[in-house]
Amino acid sequence: MPKILLCVTGGIAAYKVIDLVSSMRKRGDEVRILMTESATRFVSPISFSSVGAFPVYTDAFDVNNGMILHTTLSLWGNILVVAPMTANTAAKIANGIADNLVTMAALAFKGPKIGVPSMNVRMYENPITVENLLKLSKSGWHILEPATGHLADGEYGKGRYPDNEQILFEIDRLLGPNDYKDVNVLVTAGPTREPIDPVRYITNRSSGKMGYEIAKAAKIRGANVILISGPAALSVPYGVERQNVQTAEEMRNAVLERMNWADIIIMAAAVADYKPSAVLNQKIKKRVDEMDIHLVKTKDILEEVSRIRKPNQFVVGFAAETENLLENARYKMESKKLDMIVANDVSHSNVGFDSSYNEVTILCGNNDVIHIERNKKSYIAQNILDIIKSHRVKLA
Ligand SMILES: Cc1cc2nc3c(=O)[nH]c(=O)nc-3n(C[C@H](O)[C@H](O)[C@H](O)COP(=O)(O)O)c2cc1C
Repeated sequence: MPKILLCVTGGIAAYKVIDLVSSMRKRGDEVRILMTESATRFVSPISFSSVGAFPVYTDAFDVNNGMILHTTLSLWGNILVVAPMTANTAAKIANGIADNLVTMAALAFKGPKIGVPSMNVRMYENPITVENLLKLSKSGWHILEPATGHLADGEYGKGRYPDNEQILFEIDRLLGPNDYKDVNVLVTAGPTREPIDPVRYITNRSSGKMGYEIAKAAKIRGANVILISGPAALSVPYGVERQNVQTAEEMRNAVLERMNWADIIIMAAAVADYKPSAVLNQKIKKRVDEMDIHLVKTKDILEEVSRIRKPNQFVVGFAAETENLLENARYKMESKKLDMIVANDVSHSNVGFDSSYNEVTILCGNNDVIHIERNKKSYIAQNILDIIKSHRVKLA
């Protein structure tokens, strides 16, 4: 569980940190907020304590806390983030100045540190600021590059506060095991849509959440990740390259095109097994009482991928079943010669399709059977990656 020392300094972007605190609270992070005096002139400490219900500290010399704030807090946290980081605070920390709670805590803190510089482009490009930020990088700080765009003061250039999602990603990455570093992971996710006519299609209830969580977790753990996704109402996880597809055939083409690159292929998409034999050019009119749609089988992507893969590629399938879960999953794994299959029972409404929760049983090529009790898909994704890692090692 991240224990974050979130230091807010006096930049225009300070108000954006309110959203960051709110996201941290939703994730279950533990946060202590430290503000410089200038920061309190942009956003009231009350705003931070209201959205997060976390303690907010502003005065290093406040004895009412019954502790020496900067030393106690710097031992409590396991990561320190300065967001936004003003040119002023960057300069102070880079030069060992400790004259307020933020700079004192930063100097005393020994764990991973993230700086989010955000300022006017001329302040950012000033050689003194450039040198200070470089100095911080060299001493182990992770300095995020500001985005380029319209700045709060109306100018255009580099200096914008980045997306909070990027900051959360960096926190997780720095606190994570980094055990997938340089591993290429291809993930498929979501449903497919098989058109009937220009306005109708056949699809299924897959939301894509499980595949997206796996892609996100792999990226946080250092992997290079390509996500091939059917239509899903989900945003791309930070740092992941997404390729959107609609039909099973488009999914197949995309996977075949990309699979050579991958060390691990995780096929979590719910690809249609059947599609209409013909797609009508015009919308079907409501003129007859009954009608049939003739379906034909789609190509089996998982079977094909497993058949043509290189020997060192690790292939993981998913089995969404409503009955005989393990029997059907084992048959799928053995007939398609997969390294691993993640089976989930989609007959329950509180897990699986469209839910943020899942409960899975993982069958491995060496006959290991691992059950993961109902939990958030983000948790299940981490477990799946742990299991893949240990079984890849065994197979290698
Ligand atoms: C309206 C206004 C906006 C400011 N915005 C920024 C900013 O976005 N980034 C920055 O580095 N400094 C900005 N400053 C300057 C800092 O507030 C100033 O350097 C202050 O001393 C920073 O104090 P701190 O680093 O202790 O928080 C701004 C100042 C004003 C008056």
